[in-house]
Amino acid sequence: SFCVAVPWFPRTIQDLDRFANQILSYGAELDADHPGFKDPVYRARRKYFADIAYNYRHQRKMQLLNMLFGGELWAAHPRVEYTEEEKKTWGTVFKTLKSLYKTHACYEHNHIFPLLEKYCGFREDNIPQLEDVSQFLQSCTGFRLRPVAGLLSSRDFLGGLAFRVFHCTQYIRHGSKPMYTPEPDICHELLGHVPLFSDRSFAQFSQIYWFTVEFGLCKQGDSIKAYGAGLLSSFGELQYCLSDKPILLPLELEKTAIQEYTITEFQPLYYVAESFNDAKEKVRRRSNEEETGLLRSQTTLVFPASQYIAKTLLLTIPRPFSVRYDPYTQRVEVLDN
Ligand code: TRP
Ligand code: FE
Repeated sequence: SFCVAVPWFPRTIQDLDRFANQILSYGAELDADHPGFKDPVYRARRKYFADIAYNYRHQRKMQLLNMLFGGELWAAHPRVEYTEEEKKTWGTVFKTLKSLYKTHACYEHNHIFPLLEKYCGFREDNIPQLEDVSQFLQSCTGFRLRPVAGLLSSRDFLGGLAFRVFHCTQYIRHGSKPMYTPEPDICHELLGHVPLFSDRSFAQFSQIYWFTVEFGLCKQGDSIKAYGAGLLSSFGELQYCLSDKPILLPLELEKTAIQEYTITEFQPLYYVAESFNDAKEKVRRRSNEEETGLLRSQTTLVFPASQYIAKTLLLTIPRPFSVRYDPYTQRVEVLDN
């Protein structure tokens, strides 16, 4: 087989520190189409949150101390004071989404939500702290949070998931447009992603990312429900996706893998899974084909396919080595074939 040059990829959980300044959209600099572009107060807040993310470093030794001495000797995430206006925006989003979840969200999301209310301060008048949510997720599925200044590339985002690290924005959307924002924000992460990252079987299924984890629909009983985080965090798109406007197609990895998508507007098209299990089975079968060398994708190029998904599953690139993730040391080991 011919040799390919493999781009850099993280080998240890500390290597994720290098993703910090590689975001695709916004960060501290907002474009003219962003709802907060003309608001100097909002822009200053965005700078504040971007700095937290840029300066964040994974500090494993400190977390070890916590484990040894059981408790909060050291918190990975500093607690943030949100302004009254930010809390008001959260309140609107929280209240509206909560009333829609009963009819629009999948069973798993509705199942975990009360636990987040009970243990993580998910309330209309409170924006939960990343530290509390991270601790909760670690106890459910071993996922931890890491702050990020904006949207990462799929490759970097998935690179984080390989270490069970979920990159999480901490700023909130602009108050003028609570129903939809063109980038991920704390509402998206906490209301869209966190509930399903708390679900054990879903946590394993973080593949074919865009049309499942972000914007997936699935059949449940006689109806179709939303489980994608980009839908579960936008009360505009959550209602739109189950209306008669978008195109719905059955989930087929060959298609989703090459489907183009927009990141800053409602999706024109969604893929509907028969069930979570069906989707997981499809991905598993696909991963096996990859493992046996029939298929290689750009993003799964260096990672165990069982941990991920990619937009570009169809590329057939031979990988000159295999990899193994060691959860005890949080390292990816590279094995020569
Ligand atoms: N529209 C989502 C919301 O209002 C946020 C969002 C926009 C998003 N583009 C995205 C989330 C891309 C994930 C990926 O909550
Ligand atoms: Fe997301």
